[in-house]
Amino acid sequence: MFKNFYITTPIYYPSGKPHMGHAYSSIVADVLARFKRLEGYNVLFLTGTDEHGQKIQKEAEKNNKEPKIFCDDISETFRKLTKTLNLSNDDFIRTTESRHLKSVNEIWNRLINSGDIYLDKYSGWYSVSDEAYYDEEEIEEKDGNKVSKTSGSIVEWVEEESYFFKLSKFQKRLLDYYQKNEDFILPRSRKNEVVKFVEKGLKDLSISRTSFSWGIPVPENKKHVIYVWLDALTNYLSALNFPNIDDKKYKSFWPADIHIIGKDILRFHAVYWPAFLFAAKLPLPKRVYGHGWILSDDKKMSKSLGNILDPIEVIKDFGIDQLRYYLIKEVSLGNDGSISMQNLKNCINNDLANNYGNLCQRVFSFIKKNCSNKIPKKNNLKDADIKLIKNLKDKVPELIDKINNQNLNEYIKTIVNFSFEANKYFNDSEPWALKTKNPERMNAILHTILEQIKNISILLNPIIPISTKKVLDTINLSDKDISIENIKKDDFFDYNLELKNLDILFKKIDNDN
Ligand code: MSP
Repeated sequence: MFKNFYITTPIYYPSGKPHMGHAYSSIVADVLARFKRLEGYNVLFLTGTDEHGQKIQKEAEKNNKEPKIFCDDISETFRKLTKTLNLSNDDFIRTTESRHLKSVNEIWNRLINSGDIYLDKYSGWYSVSDEAYYDEEEIEEKDGNKVSKTSGSIVEWVEEESYFFKLSKFQKRLLDYYQKNEDFILPRSRKNEVVKFVEKGLKDLSISRTSFSWGIPVPENKKHVIYVWLDALTNYLSALNFPNIDDKKYKSFWPADIHIIGKDILRFHAVYWPAFLFAAKLPLPKRVYGHGWILSDDKKMSKSLGNILDPIEVIKDFGIDQLRYYLIKEVSLGNDGSISMQNLKNCINNDLANNYGNLCQRVFSFIKKNCSNKIPKKNNLKDADIKLIKNLKDKVPELIDKINNQNLNEYIKTIVNFSFEANKYFNDSEPWALKTKNPERMNAILHTILEQIKNISILLNPIIPISTKKVLDTINLSDKDISIENIKKDDFFDYNLELKNLDILFKKIDNDN
């Protein structure tokens, strides 16, 4: 039986350079996608760019470019970023593609057919930067401007003819759904915010605009373009060849298992999107996870504060595995997390160079020197050897749970501990003192530690795929051997198989670097 798993990132606005926040959402989704593959799932991992709307049109105008040409350029930088971040995405969708146009038209028609769209006039506040409508009580005055209380972005007064979606009609159905499906919105704290928002009462939602043209036209009235969020959210279906619901992709992967998003766009994913799907008579995604913000030295990243961390620069200086590891370990997914260059350096030195890296390097060089670089024989294991391996194996179901609950930093901390224990086991067992005295015992110790390195590396593989691949390659594991199933196997290694060479895994970072 095939077990399918569909995971998505937000599709990013190609309005400027990608930053650390974008990198973070994508890395989180990639770690989950990679883990599910190791578990044997048939995974579809989608990312892409959200290219329509007033915000993009304005940016393109500022740059004296046609919106499509403008998007082509910046979307390409996001596509390149997927390579730089070493994402394992199976698809990259752009909302300017024809497959998406078809899918949005179908959603629109379904909402028309269900009687949930009507024509009226919108007058109210709109933030171009957030592409969001705000109520009077959601805005405040700041430095002479009206701004959104939550995002701080400037809002403007809009009055225009607009199609409306009968969102108010879905209030009760949404609340019932949240109650029955406890894990639909995670983390819990964010779910409570959403529930409160919906309980306060939902107003019908304006879903078309007439004051600009960069978007998908309303099929029956080309004066209007479809509201960019209705357009963008539909991308999750477009990638499955919707509206062809008999298509294998759609059948295998819808409803999505999880949408990974930032907390800033939770309302769109946890209120509007399910309501659109209710109206379109389509199943809802199983989970929406709204992660926290990445802060730079405790402050929100902004150009004026000069504290923007450019992922590409950081990767150039320190390496992609290093950045991935740091973000997943240091930021607790559901909360805001502060990152700094100093902490990044400490994390690389302590966890990667001194702990996991050191474990691998010292064991491999010991085997090279003392065992003709061959996998030593396993014999007469002692309690300490068996316990070391068993502790990790016994924890696998718990680790799978942590991933399934998106508890990524707890997951990583458990594994770091195994690596720490393995280093301690190596020290305490003193194989170097047994070279001539008891080579059989020395071999048993080395075999045990190699097995533990294998298991730790498989578990770390979704987070630091390049480095763990090097380690696993050294001990002769092929790609198909890298699986959670393999952790359960005893006697994996062929005795006498030669180890390959391993270059330095993680360079230590000088503090003045
Ligand atoms: N285009 C919409 C999403 C449409 S999804 C159908 C959008 N795009 S965005 O370019 O603004 O990117 C938003 C996502 O980037 C956020 O939801 C969040 O996941 C991520 N981040 C942007 N800045 C961030 C931080 N400082 N910290 C963490 N992630 C944040 O909204």
